[in-house]
Amino acid sequence: MDAKEPILFKSFPALKEKVPWISLLTNIPTPVDKLTELEKHFNMASDGSVYIKRDDIDHEIYGGNKLRKFEFLIGEALKKKKKGIQTFGGVGTNHGLAAAIVTKELGLKCDLFLADQPLTWHVQRSLLLFDHFGARLHYSKGYGSIALKGGIFRLFHPKHFMMLPGGSLLLGRGSPLGTVGFINAFFELKSQIDGGKLPKPDVIFVAGGSTGTAAGLIAGCKLLGLDIDFKIVAVSDPMFVNPKSITTNCNVTLEYLQDMDEAIPKVKVEEDDFEIYTDYLGSEYGVKTIRGQNAVDTIMELEGKKKGFKLETTYTGKTVAGLFDYLNKDENKSKNILFWNTYNSQNLDDLLRKIGFNWKNLPKKFYKFYETKFQCWQITECPQETRKKCPAYLNHEYRFWKVTKCSLDEEKQKIARDALSKVIELEDT
Ligand SMILES: Cc1ncc(COP(=O)(O)O)c(C=O)c1O
Repeated sequence: MDAKEPILFKSFPALKEKVPWISLLTNIPTPVDKLTELEKHFNMASDGSVYIKRDDIDHEIYGGNKLRKFEFLIGEALKKKKKGIQTFGGVGTNHGLAAAIVTKELGLKCDLFLADQPLTWHVQRSLLLFDHFGARLHYSKGYGSIALKGGIFRLFHPKHFMMLPGGSLLLGRGSPLGTVGFINAFFELKSQIDGGKLPKPDVIFVAGGSTGTAAGLIAGCKLLGLDIDFKIVAVSDPMFVNPKSITTNCNVTLEYLQDMDEAIPKVKVEEDDFEIYTDYLGSEYGVKTIRGQNAVDTIMELEGKKKGFKLETTYTGKTVAGLFDYLNKDENKSKNILFWNTYNSQNLDDLLRKIGFNWKNLPKKFYKFYETKFQCWQITECPQETRKKCPAYLNHEYRFWKVTKCSLDEEKQKIARDALSKVIELEDT
């Protein structure tokens, strides 16, 4: 058997003939690491533990949760002899970036239909990277109009394979294959538990956006009969992240596999198999929250710098904010906890330097994402009092030369900008 072949096929060999799949991941099984500094920080008991599943390095160019889904989804596109992929997301979509990278690798076309999301440095980077990897970009302000544009495009491009946003089922509709990628991921975790790489988790924390990741893990766990408590931190609208949508996504995918192979146990996921944390989203998808930003910074200090991973503020920061509140409670100090890291940590900064931040190569419609002025608390290292009043406080991705409405005097601003330009050049551009 090919070492990279899905472990799910090993358990249920009949699936191999029927379920489409291509090999994309370059580093599986992804490691599990013990977060010992974090354990100390939260005074975990000696029989408790916190681990991270390092999906952030599952691919040599772009890690994260997307390629696990694409092994099956793009497997289907190739089986159907499609020549391109069409998909949807916000202007900073990680799903779209992963699609652009993989399609380029496979010689397929890529058309991304993009809608507004809160503007951050991450959005600016993503747009440049989509373009660099050869994706064609289509833009409208809202999701309704990109869906419409995408629908019209589909009529004229039947050789394109359509993936829904996030590569997940949408309220039970679409392809269950992205979710199959995470059922397979859970089987991978089980073999790591069996191999003694980590204790069986009592609890798994994972982000819920389009929910394919969480649904796959929960369904995989159900198939294998493990007793694990799933905490899904909602990072997108409750319309997508709710008990019904998640159980539907789990069960549609389980039924798909049960139809493919009668050896698959006839299990079903129920709403009490998981818990949704709804307090960490903030006002909407993509906005930074103070708790999310603090989680990103704390993890970076305690573990990320040493182990080479970072979180971001849209998904994983909010998830870890939920984890931190959980770890703060005395009754959880003896639990075995796993955080499933879904964000890429391969370095794309060098590539962005090479591109030279040349946003004028993008279609004109996207210029506005670079011409808008930002504000920045971090660059000016403002005192706490000033920061509290500053609307840009905690927006650490904002670039220092775009500072507006700064309440520091000119001279102090200049000193801070000069000093920080060095730091930011090293870290970000
Ligand atoms: C970094 C990251 N984490 C988590 C998610 C959420 O995954 P899902 O859409 O499967 O819920 C996404 C989706 O875009 C993501 O980019």
